[in-house]
Amino acid sequence: MICKSHAIYCLHLLCSLLLLMCSCLHYCAARDTITAGNPINSTSSETLISDGKRFELRFLNISGQSSSRYVGIQYYTWRPPEIVWIFNRDNPLPDSATGFFGIINGNLTLWDESRISYFSISLGSSRSTAKLLDSGNLVVRDDQSGKSLWESFNHPTDTFLPGMNMNANLKLTSWKGPDDPTSGNFTFQQEEEVENGYIILKRGTIYWKSRETGSFNSYNNLYDPVAVFLNSSNSIQSNAGTILNSPNKTTFVPVRNYNNARLLMNSYGQVQYFIWRDSKTGSSGWSLKRSGPRDRCSVYNACGNFGSCNINKNNWGLCKCLPGFQPSSQAAGWDPAVPSGCTRMSRICAGHKEVFLNLTMMKVGKPDTPLSEVQNETRCRKECLDNCQCQAYSYNEANNTRTDGPRHGCWIWTSDLSDLQEVYATDGYNISVRVVASSIGILPFLLQNKLKLSCLLVFLA
Ligand SMILES: *[C@@H]1O[C@H](CO)[C@@H](O)[C@H](O)[C@H]1NC(C)=O
Ligand SMILES: *[C@@H]1O[C@H](CO)[C@@H](O)[C@H](O)[C@H]1NC(C)=O
Ligand SMILES: *[C@@H]1O[C@H](CO)[C@@H](O)[C@H](O)[C@H]1NC(C)=O
Ligand SMILES: *[C@@H]1O[C@H](CO)[C@@H](O)[C@H](O)[C@H]1NC(C)=O
Ligand SMILES: *[C@@H]1O[C@H](CO)[C@@H](O)[C@H](O)[C@H]1NC(C)=O
Ligand SMILES: *[C@@H]1O[C@H](CO)[C@@H](O)[C@H](O)[C@H]1NC(C)=O
Ligand SMILES: *[C@@H]1O[C@H](CO)[C@@H](O)[C@H](O)[C@H]1NC(C)=O
Ligand SMILES: *[C@@H]1O[C@H](CO)[C@@H](O)[C@H](O)[C@H]1NC(C)=O
Ligand SMILES: *[C@@H]1O[C@H](CO)[C@@H](O)[C@H](O)[C@H]1NC(C)=O
Ligand SMILES: *[C@@H]1O[C@H](CO)[C@@H](O)[C@H](O)[C@H]1NC(C)=O
Repeated sequence: MICKSHAIYCLHLLCSLLLLMCSCLHYCAARDTITAGNPINSTSSETLISDGKRFELRFLNISGQSSSRYVGIQYYTWRPPEIVWIFNRDNPLPDSATGFFGIINGNLTLWDESRISYFSISLGSSRSTAKLLDSGNLVVRDDQSGKSLWESFNHPTDTFLPGMNMNANLKLTSWKGPDDPTSGNFTFQQEEEVENGYIILKRGTIYWKSRETGSFNSYNNLYDPVAVFLNSSNSIQSNAGTILNSPNKTTFVPVRNYNNARLLMNSYGQVQYFIWRDSKTGSSGWSLKRSGPRDRCSVYNACGNFGSCNINKNNWGLCKCLPGFQPSSQAAGWDPAVPSGCTRMSRICAGHKEVFLNLTMMKVGKPDTPLSEVQNETRCRKECLDNCQCQAYSYNEANNTRTDGPRHGCWIWTSDLSDLQEVYATDGYNISVRVVASSIGILPFLLQNKLKLSCLLVFLA
């Protein structure tokens, strides 16, 4: 009725109201997409929030640093908001600049008010839209074809999330430090040609292996549910669970909900598997289920060749050269952080009297020669002595039918012994290391008394 009499005013009012609502929708309701010409910037608090409010993409201040220098994705409701992805980890925005993150000239780009670009990805399409999904994946699609042009899930930083696909091209690279997202020393990736096998590389060299296969000391350090998590997009899952096949062993992993899981390659070199626990009583949070390497002796070849790791010792006693060996790098002393390994004090097969150090309960890296079936230890030792390259042998009496324990027979190492660990397991390997008698000094006396190596180590320590 009012409208009839004051039609024009009323229309005006309606329009203003509509406009207000529109702008309110624009500013009040969070968006989850970025279109060309519609970036988010570091001066406003505007962020992208995924549809189901699980993840948020925003300019980030990382602990202690005052201004927004990174664009990243973090959990939206789970606190503290763990950062799962960073766009410009190696190209931070300077403190003083105003940053813009969006699509410009066919690129997904972070730029500043002077149009300097800090990080840019060419999308190969002039019209596209980026959308933050509830999985935490930022997906850029072509507006016309709907084809995916780029996805953050194919370019993770240090975190693996449910829905990612751990293939040969996927790597997790650690942060440099807990507060520094710059690419760090450690990467986590598949191990080529090892089914469900993963490795951590430290600046390109092997730092940890999830599994070792073969007939010698096969092991599996990867918690089976993690193996399923990492390979969930490939593996065959029934309603009840997943069958994990590893050589000669089949494990069944009951069905799990991985939506609340994440895997982190942390800056200290550990890959960590977390589960989010929701609790009504107020102690919700991330619970660390597994880490690898699980201890300092589980680092691959932790003490270097001919160095032996003992987890019961403190930091500086962790690594020790076997008797008759000395640190390869004398100048550096013995630094467990930089295991340079050990070298022989005297060469074998050079005409000196030689003896064998008998070590029990050892972990040791694979021998480089195939198993030979000999009748007794005397034969095995002779095989070693007959070969100038032979560094050590292991004769196993036990006819062990387990696939992951010591195998019956005679093993010969002609290359350096690696990955040694003492008091590893009661069913570890017994190995006999060939050394020149004089290089173990006081030994002739001790040898006659058949003292165990553990005593020798005490004497020589
Ligand atoms: C930053 O974004 C907000 C919200 O979209 C906008 O109001 C503001 O003008 C933008 N700032 C600059 C410098 O473009
Ligand atoms: C980041 O730091 C800047 C400068 O101190 C501040 O204006 C901004 O609100 C901070 N942003 C967040 C998300 O804390
Ligand atoms: C778009 O990105 C490509 C490389 O990704 C770069 O060569 C090109 O200069 C960028 N264009 C703009 C306008 O930033
Ligand atoms: C993932 O699982 C499938 C099916 O079980 C298997 O064939 C494939 O080898 C696995 N991939 C890796 C990398 O282990
Ligand atoms: C698995 O079993 C087959 C035959 O049963 C055998 O040839 C092979 O060496 C075994 N592999 C391992 C890793 O034990
Ligand atoms: C990464 O490597 C460098 C050079 O070896 C070293 O100085 C630094 O401490 C390492 N960082 C970590 C976290 O291990
Ligand atoms: C190691 O064992 C062999 C065979 O049992 C024995 O002859 C030798 O003396 C032992 N060596 C030491 C250092 O005890
Ligand atoms: C070990 O086996 C060989 C045959 O391979 C045999 O000649 C020798 O007598 C055996 N030695 C012992 C101590 O049993
Ligand atoms: C290792 O040696 C001990 C005796 O020192 C023996 O009881 C054990 O069976 C040996 N282990 C293997 C795998 O041969
Ligand atoms: C080991 O044990 C199996 C049966 O458990 C037997 O068939 C095989 O001949 C044994 N091997 C040796 C070398 O004793």
